[in-house]
Amino acid sequence: LPVPPFDFVVFGGTGDLSLRKLMPGLFYREADRQIIGDSRIIAVSRTDQTVGQFRNQVAGALDRYVPAADRHPEVVERFLARLHYVALDATRGEGWGDLRDALAPAEEKVRVFYLATSPSLFGAICRNLKDAGLVSDTCRVVLEKPLGHDRKSAQAINEEVGAVFPEERIFRIDHYLGKESVQNLMVLRFGNALFEPLWDSGWIDHVQITVAESIGVEGRAEYYDRAGALRDMVQNHFLQLLCLVAMEPPSSLSEDTMRNEKIKVLRALRPIGAAEVKQKTVRGQYRPGAVDGKPVPGYLEELGGRNQSNTETLVSIKCEIDNWRWGGVPFYLRTGKRMPTRCSEIVIQFKAIPHNVFGKGAGELAANKLVIRLQPDEGVRLSIMTKVPGPGGLRLRSVPLNLSYAEAFKDRYPEAYERLLMDVVRGNPALFMRRDEVDAAWAWIDTIQAAWVETDMKPEPYSAGSWGPISSALLLARDNRSWHDAE
Ligand code: BG6
Repeated sequence: LPVPPFDFVVFGGTGDLSLRKLMPGLFYREADRQIIGDSRIIAVSRTDQTVGQFRNQVAGALDRYVPAADRHPEVVERFLARLHYVALDATRGEGWGDLRDALAPAEEKVRVFYLATSPSLFGAICRNLKDAGLVSDTCRVVLEKPLGHDRKSAQAINEEVGAVFPEERIFRIDHYLGKESVQNLMVLRFGNALFEPLWDSGWIDHVQITVAESIGVEGRAEYYDRAGALRDMVQNHFLQLLCLVAMEPPSSLSEDTMRNEKIKVLRALRPIGAAEVKQKTVRGQYRPGAVDGKPVPGYLEELGGRNQSNTETLVSIKCEIDNWRWGGVPFYLRTGKRMPTRCSEIVIQFKAIPHNVFGKGAGELAANKLVIRLQPDEGVRLSIMTKVPGPGGLRLRSVPLNLSYAEAFKDRYPEAYERLLMDVVRGNPALFMRRDEVDAAWAWIDTIQAAWVETDMKPEPYSAGSWGPISSALLLARDNRSWHDAE
């Protein structure tokens, strides 16, 4: 369905995120004719360049990030014609005239300010927008992650932005919530009668969430070295995934109902302090190795040959949710750069059956396992015990029931940003993080971060292309369990 006409202003409009994700995402929405009327996309950046130069830059980005088959020349032309460019140092109070001139009256169009800059600029940009008279009471602001560096800095940003925009018009984006496979998680849980009655400590032994990446830090070393995997991935994407797996059924998907359930999970996460941080968390940092048979440099080399860094590029955590549903069910989280493959999945490991009626000779009875594959090869796999056909004795084997998205749905499905950008224009905040969620997530992360400092827990080396240091396997082995990929 088309969205209302808009002026979409992107601060940091020539940056990596804008060119790699936002522009291609908006391009696809153009191709589907969801963008109508004289909607415009206005990039703001300090670089002094013409709109023609900016359009060329975006055309280049489309060549790189959109497959040729999807780049119909008339759609590219239509899309490029929507692009405008304003050179502006948004941290300064003056020079806002060009942007003001570029915008249609706010009563006529939805006006969105997308802040794809360093979070340290969010406050200043919002203040300047207000002082320049560009904020009306219908404008929306989108905040990219990372939202601060810890709870305190996030609170400061939220205060500054909140002084200009009311909470219902602040869209804190976490692109994982826009992924089709993540949304399907809710449909799987609440659109089927089958799973929900089993979705608790009575039936589930434990949960694993893995987001493995084969890429390294990709030219983002400066940012990454200040963040590390815990802040870069766990504070946001992982805790959101964990909430969707663990939350109580919301009464609807509208605005706050789901967010009200998610916040309860975040607040029930058991803090991991200095006394147990070494048993419950693992930090790793990659050394040179090989991914897909190709040699790759180590993290320190990517930092420009530094001989030391205390930043983790991999983290594994055993966490617990202190509530009635999940008491005694550990959630194991793991994410890392330069792992053997790109693969994100959630594994729900059910408990073993209480009694084996088949006798030992029939073979091991593996407990049921539900694997929700988020990317790539999105799908859902449920392993069930089956009789191996044939005469003679009864033999059993675990066999998967397999749902592959690619086989079930032939149409291209949208990238996470496409869906979320259109939700902003429609004014639907349900898939964006509320201020209290960000705050609760940081509170939990800060405790771990402080415990690492207090116990002087350094990242352990692992070879690029491996599943991480041995301690990551031991985190589960100590509980007589193992990571799904190790089985
Ligand atoms: C970003 C992180 O938020 O998510 C990156 O900053 C990471 O470090 C990326 O690579 C992963 O996203 P995706 O969609 O490729 O899984």
